Amino acid sequence: MGHVTPLAGLAKLLVLRHHFTATLVTFSDLPCSLPSSISTIQLPTPLLEDLPSNTHFVTRICLTIAHSVSPLREILISLRRTTRIAAVIFDLFGSDFLSMVKEFGIPSYLFITSNYFFLSFMLHLPTLEETTTGEFRDLSEPLRLPGCVPLNGEDFLEPLQERESVVCAWVVHIARNYDLFEGTLVNSFETIEADAAMYYKKRGDGKPHVWPIGPLTWSGSDMGTDESSHKRIEWLNRQPTESVVFICFGSGGTLSLEQTQELALGLEMSGQRFIWVVRVPNDTDPSSSYFNPKQNSENCFGFLPEGFVERTKDRGMIVHSWGPQREVLSHHATGGFVSHCGWNSTLESLMNGVPMIAWPLYAEQRMNAVLLVEGVKVALKAKVGVNGVVRRQEVAKVVKELMEGEEGKVVRRRMQEMKEEAARAVGKEGSSYKAIYEIVSLLEDSAVTTS
Ligand SMILES: *[C@@H]1O[C@H](CO)[C@@H](O)[C@H](O)[C@H]1NC(C)=O
Ligand SMILES: *[C@@H]1O[C@H](CO)[C@@H](O)[C@H](O)[C@H]1NC(C)=O
Repeated sequence: MGHVTPLAGLAKLLVLRHHFTATLVTFSDLPCSLPSSISTIQLPTPLLEDLPSNTHFVTRICLTIAHSVSPLREILISLRRTTRIAAVIFDLFGSDFLSMVKEFGIPSYLFITSNYFFLSFMLHLPTLEETTTGEFRDLSEPLRLPGCVPLNGEDFLEPLQERESVVCAWVVHIARNYDLFEGTLVNSFETIEADAAMYYKKRGDGKPHVWPIGPLTWSGSDMGTDESSHKRIEWLNRQPTESVVFICFGSGGTLSLEQTQELALGLEMSGQRFIWVVRVPNDTDPSSSYFNPKQNSENCFGFLPEGFVERTKDRGMIVHSWGPQREVLSHHATGGFVSHCGWNSTLESLMNGVPMIAWPLYAEQRMNAVLLVEGVKVALKAKVGVNGVVRRQEVAKVVKELMEGEEGKVVRRRMQEMKEEAARAVGKEGSSYKAIYEIVSLLEDSAVTTS
């Protein structure tokens, strides 16, 4: 989801503002409605039957792509019968398609649905792999990438945490192709990563150009109109401005039972108002009735601490369903966001000026957390205690600090600045706006030459 929505957003921009036609090729149905000038093609998902059930999802994605080169080739052949293909724009997992598309002489671009920091990391990863041994978390020095905050090994991408694992090898493999694309688009903007942006602007050596085109999220009408989202908004409407903390760990994030309970008790101790998207704990038996909340609405939050729901009912709202989060983040009552730091969610928070508490879970989220806390300074960090659990006292402390404390004020002010910068970047003549024009003019040229 976090990858498909920005890609759909880019397609929409190219179609509506710049009059291209676009074909979105995905492995899944698109959750959002698209303008009629964007067609969609669904690639068949190869059967990966003999994979062990505990195979990392990144390995699954990479294998799926590796098995889909021929189907995509067929799609390109068929599209070429009726269309001049100006370019193919790939998601960050699309590396393995590159050489096939090059055979057609069609330019390929890489769209990093994350930031410059992630791109820099991936570009450096093959070197890091060749020049170091042992686990990355045991490296004696933090990694210093040009224009980026120092990064400790333990904060590297989660799939790299076991050097000998299959998934680690896949990530290094896809990174090797990153500098072979015609150009790279990042879903970031110049002012939020100013030093990195400057580095890439000046980077010569015939290296591909990098354009910041963000923040780009899906700008269609994706407001949920179901009953629960109405209830949420009505509840928010009754709360004072910037008084509510929103807690949501994205589409894929779950917590253990122990962590869920600590978070609940910490929220209670903080005394703050909150909306919490509560997920069934990830160590719950899958046959549990919690997974069928409809059949069992009485007890569907039965894993929360005894009496918690009752005690917090006047200032807290707990909801099952994830998203759409924009309606919550853009509401004036929302004053803080406890987030897993997925980049999509982060951009939503930035665009709405909501300061964050960084609580990374997987993928590149720890890197995003470092960027937000130490680089951009728009987030406070929830400190992880023994056994990898954020304890209730820490939850209470950091939530209170964000909403009422001095550090909270500082990140709130900084986030407000970033909100204005983000709007400026995508506004007329802003840096991201101009970057899109540059790309468009290249695409127009290649549409002529590939005809
Ligand atoms: C990303 O943001 C869009 C809105 O721009 C939202 O609808 C979508 O659910 C978000 N996806 C993820 C994975 O956070
Ligand atoms: C469950 O959530 C915890 C965070 O509370 C996380 O550390 C752990 O990896 C998750 N386990 C699974 C199987 O997703």
